Amino acid sequence: MRDLAAIILAAGQGTRMRSSLAKVLHPVAGQPMISYPLELCRRMGVKRTLVVVGHQAEQVQAALGERGNGVEFVLQAEQRGTADAVLQTEAALRGTTGDVLVLSGDLPLLSDGLMESLLETHARTEAHVTAVTTRLEEPTGYGRVLRDGNGEFLEIVEEVEATEDQRHVQEINVGLYCFAAPGLFTAVRQVRPSKVKGELYLPEVLSIIKTHGGKVGLFFASHWREVMGINTREDLAQVYAVLRGRIVTHWMAEGVTILDPGAVHISPLVTLGQDTVLYPNVHLEGRTTIGHNCIIYPGCRLRDSHLGDGVTVLDGTIILESEIADACTLGPYAHLRPGSRLKRKAKVGNFVEMKKSTLGEGSKAPHLAYVGNATVGDRVNIGAGTITCNYDGFSKHQTLIEDEAFIGSNTSLVAPVKIGRGAIVAAGSAITQEVPPDALAFGRAMQVNKEGRAAEIRKARGKK
Ligand code: UD1
Ligand code: CA
Repeated sequence: MRDLAAIILAAGQGTRMRSSLAKVLHPVAGQPMISYPLELCRRMGVKRTLVVVGHQAEQVQAALGERGNGVEFVLQAEQRGTADAVLQTEAALRGTTGDVLVLSGDLPLLSDGLMESLLETHARTEAHVTAVTTRLEEPTGYGRVLRDGNGEFLEIVEEVEATEDQRHVQEINVGLYCFAAPGLFTAVRQVRPSKVKGELYLPEVLSIIKTHGGKVGLFFASHWREVMGINTREDLAQVYAVLRGRIVTHWMAEGVTILDPGAVHISPLVTLGQDTVLYPNVHLEGRTTIGHNCIIYPGCRLRDSHLGDGVTVLDGTIILESEIADACTLGPYAHLRPGSRLKRKAKVGNFVEMKKSTLGEGSKAPHLAYVGNATVGDRVNIGAGTITCNYDGFSKHQTLIEDEAFIGSNTSLVAPVKIGRGAIVAAGSAITQEVPPDALAFGRAMQVNKEGRAAEIRKARGKK
């Protein structure tokens, strides 16, 4: 393969998004739009990837921070058009041989297959530039591709510059080009401001190459969805729907049951094991991994979490940055905040909140509890309404509950505190001191029964 560099254009504001956030930073399936072309370049074995930034340059660079490794940023201080954006990379790419891909940062759906056939066609036809086109029923807003009688490239006219007749053309410029590096910048430097908007248009470079006797190829993409760009919020929703469809189809082929494929949201970085079942309205975000034979019921959201095999997540449960071992049960309506860890067969039930805590093997907090900054051993039972009082208004404190302890309902465990192995805490206790192993702890006022007193009160008030 010839040497390959890529220029990703991402300096524009994306006016039509009507947003204070730069267009390329809008998330698609939870990942910033621009991360898609970057990942594509990585998969294609592109040697150098340059991202032209301008509008909100710092935010774009920061967003790519980790992912941006190996990416070179080039600043376009003033957004004077796509040709001007490419021109900013001239110094960085001086002396480059081989090919240069130029693509908009707003094309998240490009497939490896399409890119491979573009490169193959470009090489085989020995073109100086190959531009990708497609046909749209509704081409409004795009640059129209004009061909001569032999179907060869004639010109690309932007909508604002086009005549009425030209606007009827349905073949559009996608915003993805493969250039032969030698001569690219010589041609880009010759672009003159457009008549209507005064911008420096990249498609103009194709006309310049042609005028100088160069070969301009057009690569027609028959599946317009693959080359769909994002200009508006409506496009954003449509592109996301396509991407979601691809992800869901992939996981079904891998043996995951998805009851309603249109109603499940799975980030591209998620992995799922065979025979796992997803009910509608499940959101799997970030780098979540889910094992085999799990069932996730409706209305659950999982982010950056790991589930082992055979885990059941009942309705309405939220799991964030947490680790769940095999055969655990969660929910309904459990809330696992970051740093929660459940060991094998642990159970967290209705309306239980956890954070920065570990629940040992086979341990249970079945109802209405708060477990924060706690380490809970194996086979522990935490009764309904139990709260770890982990915060004294100044700092957070730890609760330690050893194996096989039993915490009665409605107990307040005032941290820092330790409950020894096999200890029993009476229901309704406020525990402020360590409970030794195998002890029974009462932390509440003793009950007093006054015989007959209730009957006396009723009589005094004239009631039977
Ligand atoms: C561009 C094409 C048009 C094509 C369409 C496909 C031009 C002149 N027109 O139009 O033929 O049909 O894409 O979506 O190229 N950008 C910069 N610096 C700038 C201007 C733009 O980096 O000065 C970046 C934008 O951030 C964006 C990309 O270039 O990622 C395309 O810009 P955009 O404004 O979306 O171009 P379109 O008007 O859509
Ligand atoms: Ca565009």
